[in-house]
Amino acid sequence: MIKIGLVGAGNIAQVHMNSYSKNKEAEVVAVCDINPERLKKFAEKYNIKNTFNSIDEMLASVKLDAADVCVWNCSHAECTIKALNSGLHVLCEKPMAYSAREAEEMLEVSKNANKLLMVGFVMRFEDGSRVAKDFIDKGYFGDIYYTKATYLRPHGNPGGWFSNKKLSGGGPVIDLGVHVIDHTRFLMGNPKPVSVYASTFNKLGNRHNLKTSVGWKPEDATDDDISDVEDLAVALIKYDNGATTLLETSYSLNGEGITAKEIFGSKGGASLAGDPKFYMEMNDYMVDVTPSIANLKDGCDLFDSEINHFIDCVANGTKCMAPAEDGVTIMKILDAIYESATTGHEVIL
Ligand SMILES: NC(=O)c1ccc[n+]([C@@H]2O[C@H](COP(=O)([O-])OP(=O)(O)OC[C@H]3O[C@@H](n4cnc5c(N)ncnc54)[C@H](O)[C@@H]3O)[C@@H](O)[C@H]2O)c1
Repeated sequence: MIKIGLVGAGNIAQVHMNSYSKNKEAEVVAVCDINPERLKKFAEKYNIKNTFNSIDEMLASVKLDAADVCVWNCSHAECTIKALNSGLHVLCEKPMAYSAREAEEMLEVSKNANKLLMVGFVMRFEDGSRVAKDFIDKGYFGDIYYTKATYLRPHGNPGGWFSNKKLSGGGPVIDLGVHVIDHTRFLMGNPKPVSVYASTFNKLGNRHNLKTSVGWKPEDATDDDISDVEDLAVALIKYDNGATTLLETSYSLNGEGITAKEIFGSKGGASLAGDPKFYMEMNDYMVDVTPSIANLKDGCDLFDSEINHFIDCVANGTKCMAPAEDGVTIMKILDAIYESATTGHEVIL
């Protein structure tokens, strides 16, 4: 049985907890949170006996095999490094860190400790992604030269720590863009990024006046929260094989909410937005060649696949599908987006 310590008892920790409770090889034996009320509520709900107000106390008191870091972005590096240095394998939620420099340090520590550091790139575990990757890797789409990474929320600034740059590191770029940049790069076979050119906008803010609901919201969100993060970002990311990704991501936008990953190759293309769609030229026609995939997993089921994979890696040494090396590369892209938006120039990586 793999013994897990949860770091953070907030919203995503509950999603992870539900997945661990379905996994027969893992048991969450301890949880810590700096917020005592949230810790108590979480421990009671899931019947976890070992509760702590800090990761230090948890690491010193309970024998664990792995830690699952589900805290604010600003504490990912600190908590991950402490857990690795205590001899634990770590699953760290996305974004891997607050900055590329922190992510590089986390990777270095995991190598020195010879422990797994997996990043919570949950979109890699979508069924549509699995099937698309199978077609891509076997050459059916040819040379993939363009991808679109879109994660637009029209009214989706969560508030709380998410909109406070000191705690989050930024807005939709580091919170939502991270998912779709990683996913499109993963589908292309993880090419090396070479340059980034970006704009960010802060025109609308958190729009508390709107009567529509926000969706993902931390428990401590209030109407008076600081919002000093961007509300829209657009970026062109170029890779060493010439492939280019267009990113669009927002917390606030007068438009439609869209989450889509689109890939365009010399022989075919795919759209992963809800149910996947595949397109190819055939017999001088454009043809929708979408394969039928039974019982597509979505929503929280993706987290079951992610958590099951983490446990499989820890228990059986299976090759990790979302390794820290990719987390570092994505953090370099995110840093470059913010740098390019600030300087107005292309950033060469
Ligand atoms: N994969 C996804 O789709 C997804 C979705 C939501 C959130 N996330 C990520 O999960 C992380 C947490 O987000 P959330 O929505 O659960 O936030 P949350 O505010 O609901 O929960 C975070 C918890 O961490 C606690 N915390 C903060 N610093 C801590 C520390 N140093 N030690 C112990 N506890 C600490 C807070 O008190 C809070 O209870 C973020 O990094 C976020 O980007 C990922």
